[in-house]
Amino acid sequence: PQAEGARAEGRPPLPIAPIGLERRTAASGSRDRDEATIISGTQLAKQVYKEVQRDVESWMSLGNKRPHLTVILVGDNPASHTYVRNKMKAAAAVGICSEIILKPKDISQEELLDLTAKLNHDSRVNGILVQLPLPDHIDERTVCNIVAPEKDVDGFHIINIGRLCLDQPSVIPATAAAVWEIIKRTGIQTFGKNVVVAGRSKNVGMPISMLLHSDGEHERPGGDATVTITHRYTPKEQLKIHTQLADIIIVAAGIPKLITADMVKEGAVVIDVGINHIHDPLTGKTKLVGDVDFEEVKKKAGFITPVPGGVGPMTVAMLLKNTLVTAKKLVY
Ligand code: GUN
Repeated sequence: PQAEGARAEGRPPLPIAPIGLERRTAASGSRDRDEATIISGTQLAKQVYKEVQRDVESWMSLGNKRPHLTVILVGDNPASHTYVRNKMKAAAAVGICSEIILKPKDISQEELLDLTAKLNHDSRVNGILVQLPLPDHIDERTVCNIVAPEKDVDGFHIINIGRLCLDQPSVIPATAAAVWEIIKRTGIQTFGKNVVVAGRSKNVGMPISMLLHSDGEHERPGGDATVTITHRYTPKEQLKIHTQLADIIIVAAGIPKLITADMVKEGAVVIDVGINHIHDPLTGKTKLVGDVDFEEVKKKAGFITPVPGGVGPMTVAMLLKNTLVTAKKLVY
């Protein structure tokens, strides 16, 4: 749960985190220092799965109902279908009951709002997620705000976002929670550090920035870092000035190779939240890449997350954790 997790964050970090880290060494003689430690989001997610599975069991052993997540999936966006399938599979693996409600892309906004409101009153359902993006004729903000805040596993309701911005306990959006957990579980210090967050989206860049800049002593403890938020109108040469000073660079811009080795301070932590499907001329197929020039940046960084296998798997794991938070009514 977020609140317990946040408290646990107060413990001293491990000098070397043994799980989720793969040490890679440069070919002998090619460099005088090791390459970055690659943080395995897949391994860290396994840790979280185990914790959630254990918590689900102990919650049920007290006579409580199995947590239940309902996902509303509108239309036939292939990426959305893949993401939702992954979420369902992960829920099943930890003992969370889940269901998908599929709706055609021409569903009216009113019908979608009615369906969501019905789920708000359905006592079988603890967690509700409306997969985004929604078709253009539907206003996403209106839909996010109809989900009951206490069932809002995405943390996208205006009340959850408001509480996040006020350093109050809330359901924290899964991607931001994933970045936070990756940093904390790897033993990376944030207190007084320079952090650049490239990307200001309301669902990813903004909540990450909120967690990292805010006060470690507040009700929902933050990272006490100095956070610089950059975005599409930050000139590239300015971005470089900021990233070169950064102890931690978090990239959620959706631009392949936005972060190159010359922009990274030696030993910095680089967390890649990018999801880009690009054409691979070698195979003729599409492949998944992040926003970081991984092969070059890993020669300079101290820690780096890969894509795939970094923030993505941890995001799914944190969604499961959020489902447990809502089932146990730990926030509301
Ligand atoms: N689409 C891409 N990421 C997300 C997410 O975290 N939540 C929802 N609801 N839709 C998404």
